Amino acid sequence: MINNNSEWIPIAHSSDLREDEPLAATADGIELVVVQSAGAVHVMYGRCPHRGALMAHGCVCGASLECKAHGWDFSLETGVSRRVPGESLGRFTARTDTATGEVLVSLVELRSWRDDNPQAFSPDEFL
Ligand code: FES
Repeated sequence: MINNNSEWIPIAHSSDLREDEPLAATADGIELVVVQSAGAVHVMYGRCPHRGALMAHGCVCGASLECKAHGWDFSLETGVSRRVPGESLGRFTARTDTATGEVLVSLVELRSWRDDNPQAFSPDEFL
């Protein structure tokens, strides 16, 4: 269980978030997408598992984040695709620091996910 502030890394400020507008972020070298929707902040891996398009260019449709390139969808709550069986987007625990307004993500989860999912796309590539 996470109980140390140093295990959280800031990725955005709550004032940067707009309801249902995906925002790109990077933490510890990992591309992310941040979505504020229905009172919650969701943080997921920032590249689509199909062909690597930036999920920050996608749109929120209902309770899912949809890739703009070919329409793959991922649940904001679970990261699992409803339309494409077996596909999902990495999802990370996030919280907002009420004192500073910073949106923080679990560094432990990010590093664990990266160990299991070597990144196939360079942050310098636009897809
Ligand atoms: S790159 Fe996202 S659906 Fe094809």
